[in-house]
Amino acid sequence: MQMEDLPAIARIEPTIFPYPWTLGNFRDSLNSGYSCWVFEQNSQIMGYAVLMMVLDEAHLLNISVALPWQGKGYGRALLQHMMEIGRRHGGANMFLEVRPSNTAAIALYESQALMKWPYAVATILPPMAVKTPY
Ligand SMILES: CC(C)(COP(=O)(O)OP(=O)(O)OC[C@H]1O[C@@H](n2cnc3c(N)ncnc32)[C@H](O)[C@@H]1OP(=O)(O)O)[C@@H](O)C(=O)NCCC(=O)NCCS
Repeated sequence: MQMEDLPAIARIEPTIFPYPWTLGNFRDSLNSGYSCWVFEQNSQIMGYAVLMMVLDEAHLLNISVALPWQGKGYGRALLQHMMEIGRRHGGANMFLEVRPSNTAAIALYESQALMKWPYAVATILPPMAVKTPY
């Protein structure tokens, strides 16, 4: 992810999140050195994710696939990529938050053994990842 990607990302956010991040939130993430990724085709951004490392904790702050591209396996591929990035940065645990109503995300995380409802202890990076309902 680069600064010039942010206007396109800020247009996608409100189409997929009830409480979207602003362009400024993504800019702050880049400026803070978080691991920020996009995947794109023909210069069209299809999805993106933001990972913050705190010591050996990988915090997945955002993972998104734009509406036209959802349900095609890209979210799982992006999640697996971010898990690998977390590992490469020395992550032992991955933390994430998901609303209980977000059944698609929950199913995705569960499919990767990332969470057990209602509190997750997951096994991806062994030993685990955690989710917090809110
Ligand atoms: C959550 C999200 C990233 C999933 O990405 P995606 O590309 O649509 O998901 P995939 O096609 O890779 O599907 C992976 C798994 O997610 C689950 N899933 C995806 N869409 C689903 C849906 N509509 N209903 C239920 N489960 C769904 C399934 O378990 C699926 O595995 P399967 O196809 O083997 O059954 C995407 O829906 C998204 O960006 N949503 C809006 C933003 C968001 O909520 N992000 C997560 C915040 S916690």
